Amino acid sequence: MPRIFFEKQSYTCQDNESVLDCLTGHGVPIPSSCRSGICQTCLMRAVEGEVPLAAQQGLKETLRVQNYFLACACKPTNDLKVALPDTEIGARTKVTVLAKEVLGGNITRLRLGCTLPLDYHPGQFVQLHRDDGLVRSYSIASLPQLEEPLELHIRHLPDGRMSGWVHDILKTGDTLEISGPTGQGFYLPGQPDQGLLLIGTGSGLAPLWGIARDALAQGHTGPIHLYHGSRDASGLYLIDELRELVEQYPNLNYTPCLSGPNIPKGFTAGRAEQVAFSHLPKLTGWRVFLCGHPTMVAATKKKAFLTGASMKDIYADPFMIAADRVKPAA
Ligand code: FES
Repeated sequence: MPRIFFEKQSYTCQDNESVLDCLTGHGVPIPSSCRSGICQTCLMRAVEGEVPLAAQQGLKETLRVQNYFLACACKPTNDLKVALPDTEIGARTKVTVLAKEVLGGNITRLRLGCTLPLDYHPGQFVQLHRDDGLVRSYSIASLPQLEEPLELHIRHLPDGRMSGWVHDILKTGDTLEISGPTGQGFYLPGQPDQGLLLIGTGSGLAPLWGIARDALAQGHTGPIHLYHGSRDASGLYLIDELRELVEQYPNLNYTPCLSGPNIPKGFTAGRAEQVAFSHLPKLTGWRVFLCGHPTMVAATKKKAFLTGASMKDIYADPFMIAADRVKPAA
């Protein structure tokens, strides 16, 4: 009978017993609700071992390739080492600041060298750890296949403890630690002609910059529309780099959007999500990536669904404002 390894203990799974029933039957608290493969509350990840296909029904492709599965629908036929999503972020890795640069929009771009190889996708996020225990999460903008150093965009927030420290004190050559990566908002090849819609505000451009370039580097031929929004032009960044990329790739469209009263030439008036939906009123068959303020992300996710995008094709990363956030931070 297969064994389930979870948090340094092993449990024997009876014939036809699910991972959820096995673990909870042994008194291990695993979150669950419907127990029938619908609500996805019992999401776990196989760290080692193969999960049956039935245990991944209905999950996003990006979760499937990372071996996530539904514990209530998983009746294993082989040994599995499993973890809960919140606990499998992984060990810390030392990184060195290779470069620090202030971009527009109050963004500091950090380029970090890792002491150990880091397996990640652009658009995922890592946790940055300061020596005193302060932790914040930031999205990854770099492309590992181009051997770019790990790149994070950190917006300097008023009273932001981590962002202020990064902006004012951290310097090239300093070392710190990261953990991760995690997150499911990244590009997967396989549907090269699918439309991709990317909408972000502020430092929400970081994952989108990574995802768009990743898609292009992997030969994506379908239309890619990137909308980056701010109140005024000083809140946007990488404008020239994005325009250069548009010159290079005819299937890439970039629209810098301004919601304030002053709209210089070359910018579009309106909030990024409103402009996007006015250009693309039907999203049937499109893949959508959203990153920014939680209110924008929640409303845009709903609207993307109502205009035809499938929920499994909508990837949303809201900024978390609380001190203990685990999602990309502004
Ligand atoms: S408990 Fe609902 S999907 Fe498993």
